[in-house]
Amino acid sequence: VDQQPSPTRSPARVDPRPNVAIVGAGRAGSALAVALQSSGYRVVAVSSRTPAAAMALSAAVHAGAPTTPAAAARRAELTFLTVPDSALHEVVARIAASPGAGSLPGRVLVHCAAALDREVLSAARGEGAAVAALHPLQALHGAASAASLRGAGFALDADPEAADRLELLVSDLGGILLPVAAGQRAAYHAAAVLAGNAPLALLARAVQLLSGTGIDADLAGRALAGLLAGATANAMRMGAAAALTGPVVRDDAGTVASHLAALQAQPELQHLYTVLAIETLQLAGVDTHPEVAALLAGRPARADLPRVTAA
Ligand SMILES: NC(=O)c1ccc[n+]([C@@H]2O[C@H](COP(=O)([O-])OP(=O)(O)OC[C@H]3O[C@@H](n4cnc5c(N)ncnc54)[C@H](OP(=O)(O)O)[C@@H]3O)[C@@H](O)[C@H]2O)c1
Repeated sequence: VDQQPSPTRSPARVDPRPNVAIVGAGRAGSALAVALQSSGYRVVAVSSRTPAAAMALSAAVHAGAPTTPAAAARRAELTFLTVPDSALHEVVARIAASPGAGSLPGRVLVHCAAALDREVLSAARGEGAAVAALHPLQALHGAASAASLRGAGFALDADPEAADRLELLVSDLGGILLPVAAGQRAAYHAAAVLAGNAPLALLARAVQLLSGTGIDADLAGRALAGLLAGATANAMRMGAAAALTGPVVRDDAGTVASHLAALQAQPELQHLYTVLAIETLQLAGVDTHPEVAALLAGRPARADLPRVTAA
């Protein structure tokens, strides 16, 4: 464990491309480390809770022996705290209080949590560090997903002295800067959950429905995920409304009615289908799709709402 501050470049010199440390060698930290290295950044320190996880990421990005969070933050100009949101407070407190940390002038500590602003790291300001929140709007699963950061949105909330370097970093990663206003991060995160998580819950329901017809679940899963990927690719090219296909946009009320009949024995799924058909109709245009609008008028019945049973 390295206890000595050994910056590879002087923190007094403000380099637009700072060397970086990763604290938390999990899904997001590993993806960021590999993407940053591929974009010309030097990863000079890695720290994690589990030695094996830290060793594996250190070896992948040639960062040397794993170290402590405090030593990592002293060694690098820019430290990503990619630990679970609930651990951020404790990790930054440990960095700020660590003996010998002294101060962190010129350093920047960054977290990647979506719903939290930069103030969760404010304890580091007392050591002279600037703080920031930089959330990559992408589903990350470790080093193999590093390439998916190219083209991703990045929500930035930074102390003024850190903003330019982080904006440059987003640009170097091929990302798109999302200037989420103060106080809007929860709404931003809710949008991310609607687009990134909810379709997976829907996909699982669709796979269940299709496999219920006798089709192998793996085959159903691959085929329906392929459909979702195709629709998403079309939406990226032309926007969600223009990318719509299916019976609602064709104003084919007969087919929609046959779907509702097929789901008669599964009221929760029928309710879900109806709610989403109404959303689809609103996207396609209620006035221009009168047959489907007439079929869905007055629906859904609230009695069909899914129920959650507490554990
Ligand atoms: N995954 C995503 O798609 C994604 C996308 C955008 C933003 N984020 C954000 O990135 C952050 C990390 O999420 P994740 O999905 O990467 O989580 P994760 O896969 O669970 O990784 C978290 C890592 O932090 C380490 N860790 C936990 N407690 C620690 C502590 N007290 N000190 C040092 N290291 C600690 C873990 O340790 P060990 O493995 O070493 O035991 C793990 O490697 C979160 O703020 C999340 O909101 C994630």
